[in-house]
Amino acid sequence: MTIDISQLTLEQKASLLSGKDFWSTKSIDEAGIPAIVLTDGPHGVRRQAEDDDHLGINTSLPSTCFPPAVAVGSSWDRDLAARVGAAVGREARAFGVSVILGPGVNIKRSPLCGRNFEYYSEDPYLSGVLGAAHVTGLQGTGVGASIKHFAANNQETERMRISADIDERTLREIYLPAFERVVTEARPATVMCSYNKINDVYASHNRWLLTDVLRTDWGFEGAVVSDWGAVSDRVAGVAAGMDLEMPGSGGATDRQIVDAVRAGKLDEQLVEQAVERVLALTRLPHDATGEFDTDDHHALAREVAADSIVLLKNDDEVLPLRENTSVAVIGAFAAQPRFQGGGSSHLNPTRVDAALDAIRDQAQALGVTVEYCEGFTIAVSDRGERLRDEAVQASGRADIAVVFAGLGDRQESEGFDRDTLALPDDQIQLIRAVAATAARTVVVLSNGGVVSLEGWHDGVDAIVEGWLLGQAGGSALADVLFGHVNPSGHLAETIPLRLQDNPSWLNFPGEQGHVRYGEGVFVGYRYYTSANTPVRYPFGHGLSYTTFSTDALVPRATGDTTADVEVTVTNTGNRTGKHVVQLYVASAATTVRRPVRELRAFTKVELRPGQSTTVHFTLNRRSFAHWDNDFGGWVVPGGTYSIQVGANASEVLLDEPITLTGDAIPHRLTLNSTVGDWFGHPVVGPLLTQGMSAAMTDAQVLQAQDNPDLMKMVESMPMRQFITFTQGAIPVETLEQLMALSTETDS
Ligand code: BGC
Repeated sequence: MTIDISQLTLEQKASLLSGKDFWSTKSIDEAGIPAIVLTDGPHGVRRQAEDDDHLGINTSLPSTCFPPAVAVGSSWDRDLAARVGAAVGREARAFGVSVILGPGVNIKRSPLCGRNFEYYSEDPYLSGVLGAAHVTGLQGTGVGASIKHFAANNQETERMRISADIDERTLREIYLPAFERVVTEARPATVMCSYNKINDVYASHNRWLLTDVLRTDWGFEGAVVSDWGAVSDRVAGVAAGMDLEMPGSGGATDRQIVDAVRAGKLDEQLVEQAVERVLALTRLPHDATGEFDTDDHHALAREVAADSIVLLKNDDEVLPLRENTSVAVIGAFAAQPRFQGGGSSHLNPTRVDAALDAIRDQAQALGVTVEYCEGFTIAVSDRGERLRDEAVQASGRADIAVVFAGLGDRQESEGFDRDTLALPDDQIQLIRAVAATAARTVVVLSNGGVVSLEGWHDGVDAIVEGWLLGQAGGSALADVLFGHVNPSGHLAETIPLRLQDNPSWLNFPGEQGHVRYGEGVFVGYRYYTSANTPVRYPFGHGLSYTTFSTDALVPRATGDTTADVEVTVTNTGNRTGKHVVQLYVASAATTVRRPVRELRAFTKVELRPGQSTTVHFTLNRRSFAHWDNDFGGWVVPGGTYSIQVGANASEVLLDEPITLTGDAIPHRLTLNSTVGDWFGHPVVGPLLTQGMSAAMTDAQVLQAQDNPDLMKMVESMPMRQFITFTQGAIPVETLEQLMALSTETDS
């Protein structure tokens, strides 16, 4: 039904721009406008039947807890991300939810961020591709997505009022592209603005962000929803493009909107625009429809979890576990899995698989015996020494010890950041003691943010990074430990040697209301590779039970700023496995300092032993571009680029050059351009040289040639000063003509 909004009173219109309660919008029955429900998200449906709250405290109706983004990020698998989105959509339909709040595509700037478990990666391309796939899958079911938290919400400390101070190039290259990709490729129904300020302006009334970038540059046509309680100035928000305030304000902010319109301070048309966008949301399906198959969804959660596990280390092929051996399973996380993070995304799962049960089940068929010891308690306890001793004794009796370590709910969550990467001390001591006794030691980690492996890494034989894997994670870990699934996850974030090595270290989490993104575009691996700083495991790292080779890398320019790439991958081992082909682009052709290499494409392929396949990539102009603050846009400089296939961000396997013509960018000259810029200008330079030589005496020419240092100084002088110092060596009219010529001319 089409609603004629001119029939609505100003009060009614304003009322549509904020929620009725925590999770629903207001209806206007006489106008045929229904209410809809928006709820968390992202990796499942958190539908609270009663006692609403947005902190994950009150229980919600059971729904499948799929692996959170930290896991899906490590899968590097867009199809899996899309299937998770679709499954979440089916559950949302069954609950009558119209909009799911997620996924989150913020960049993991610091490994300390308490909410990193809800984000995919430190890389904007990987985050954007997976986020777009999830949204496409979700919205294919009719349910709307709310991509969040827009933008630059990269920490929990002071998240509701901190100003993220970031230069435009860094925003455009690092913190915005994942949102941009999701908006342009997957067209989410809504974008959720974040709590924080960006360069001193709250996201919830940041016109540059919500209108200039989001709508004008990217063509977003949906509604902007506030993060829960993010509105600081409702009237400025409407003017900036912030359509729906959530949750409701009990009518207070609706009245502010009405008053502002009546006082001539807010254009009613802007209110109507926002109303139209909210009305579009009410056309999303909102009646509870269909049922979801909890078994099917659990099986999907297990498949995704297994493909997200990252095998970090596997000395002497200690994994997979062998038949007819004895295994000591140690560590409380084996029996009490940590599979999701704390806060607004906390779900009530339909069931939970513990790794210990799954290991016992799978062990039987292989003649493996299992002994379990708790080893430590997740909550603080004083039984540490006794539990450790028991575990050490069990390790001594077994062929192999598998220690389940990790972070508990108290150590990381939405709402606060960590201040250390270390595992709890009792767990470190346990791992060291077991490793000193056991014939072989495997460590399995459960953690939402990166933990340090230092102090015990070298003493163990294998490390399995299990992140938070959702409700079926326990079975998925057993699948990988026994080799029923060949691990294929790769790190979506770097594991540093020291926290201090992280590029945000000196500027995280900020002070006095500001966090300065001083590292600029050098976030994560972009910094480590550029500064040649050693890391424990680089972005992109991940082992398999088989081996792969990549060869025949052939890049081919397909235009001035685009290219196609082909490369062949072969499974050279003796098990079927999945391999991620990671394509990086590096460039020296630039006027700005760029990271050593940047991920520009990837794909995951499954190959049988001996099988080969050729994969094709298309690199568009953004694969080669940087954001140019002077030009105010994306620029592809002409020159040579390296197309690289990496085993990870630090290890280049293949490297082929490609030459691109680049963009024809007008080099606009002003009086502030340096003398060097003027003489170096492709069109103006030769004219100027000609004119100057004609005007100079032979003696002046010789003097200039004999004095290179003086020439260097002159070159760096703005033309304005040069004219003053030389008392008008070049007439002002000539300069004006040349300036006009410079803007018209493409180089
Ligand atoms: C979180 C959002 C969430 C919302 C509703 C906020 O505190 O930042 O991610 O969607 O609450 O629960």
